[in-house]
Amino acid sequence: MAPTPLSRSARSADDVIAELAALRTDDVKWSEGRAFGMVYDGGPAVHEVAERAAAMYLHENALNTKAFPSLARLQSDVVSWTASLMHGPDSAAGFMTSGGTESIQVAVLAARERARVERGVTEPEMVISDTTHAAFHKSAHMYGMTVHKVACRSDYTADVAAMARHVNENTVLVVGSAPQYPQGVVDPIPEIAELAATVDANCHVDACMGGFVLPFAEMLGRNVEPWDFRVEGVHSISADVHKLGYAPKGASVIVYRNRELRAHQTFVFSDWLGGFYASPNLQGTRSGLPMAAAWAVMSTLGIEGYVELTRRTLETADAIRAAVRSIDGLTVLGDPRFHLLTIASDTASTTPIDAFALGDALLTRGWFHDRQSPPDTLHATVSNSNVDHLEHYLADLHTCADEVRGTHAADRSTNYATLE
Ligand SMILES: Cc1ncc(COP(=O)(O)O)c(C=O)c1O
Repeated sequence: MAPTPLSRSARSADDVIAELAALRTDDVKWSEGRAFGMVYDGGPAVHEVAERAAAMYLHENALNTKAFPSLARLQSDVVSWTASLMHGPDSAAGFMTSGGTESIQVAVLAARERARVERGVTEPEMVISDTTHAAFHKSAHMYGMTVHKVACRSDYTADVAAMARHVNENTVLVVGSAPQYPQGVVDPIPEIAELAATVDANCHVDACMGGFVLPFAEMLGRNVEPWDFRVEGVHSISADVHKLGYAPKGASVIVYRNRELRAHQTFVFSDWLGGFYASPNLQGTRSGLPMAAAWAVMSTLGIEGYVELTRRTLETADAIRAAVRSIDGLTVLGDPRFHLLTIASDTASTTPIDAFALGDALLTRGWFHDRQSPPDTLHATVSNSNVDHLEHYLADLHTCADEVRGTHAADRSTNYATLE
């Protein structure tokens, strides 16, 4: 089929916007609390400030902060506030990136480069768990690195003893997650940091999911296992403002223990006719919009705002976990205690429920869960978006469980993907 040509004549803004509105009809209704992940709704005050800041910075380019010093200031504030939440030392330094994947990509690059410069490693390897986010595999693929992927323990946390068997003189990075995405449990970060230290490799903590939850959960008095810069031997941490930080998409933070560690992520080049080039990100031209919106959202919420959003979110996640465990045929994998959970078939039950059949039934009622595998399960990242819709969701969960008990979904595909 020939590519569709762009319309020759100009169209009115009203016409274009009306078509956009129509195109969105089938999109998941996140503003009605139907998405368990992907969109994180901080409420009307957060929307308002994000939209106003976004309109102001729609056209700004963070490629060169000499031209836009305000963006340098916004980035510096967001990084500093985030580093403070992670108990970063005075020396902590970082950058904003476009998202969790980019924060991970630059952290992997920094680890590889530090090992090359300081230890002469030319065949870099990383050691991760099979629950560690796929963005680490993507990074290894891009940077020509070997990945040692180690099976997690039965509670889904990283198996550090097994990881130790893969650490050697080529290891540049050992990773822990706080929490990991598939089952939402926090890895034993102190043990992982100790393991990395045995060969002077970087220890990265992937807190893309937890970076804007765990600090506030701790303030709420919840038991939070050690995960941040208070753990000696953690070199870098990624945290996504565009997830539970409630900023619009395109905002994440990478923080290092010091500027020397950070320097390894920046590409510096002076041998072309365009002059001195220094680029810490994967992008060249970078929109100022997500940076300004993230700054505005964090400023508006403040610590008290985040604590309240976290309280609501964790209570909702607790209620969903309790409901899933109470339904014969369903269970929650592992013991996630924060905002994530995985709905699985309870194989100990005499009438296990097929999680994918449950997901299909929930989807017909508008509730969108990512499907994951193995094992075949439904993923839920709970956020403030879901809080006001809890009763409705739980009622549908019970109805759908009864409806699909004894059935099996024909489609076994999983869907954390964009292929077209
Ligand atoms: C633990 C973890 N790390 C990294 C990522 C990647 O983040 P992004 O989708 O913003 O690139 C995710 C996304 O869900 C995640 O859960």
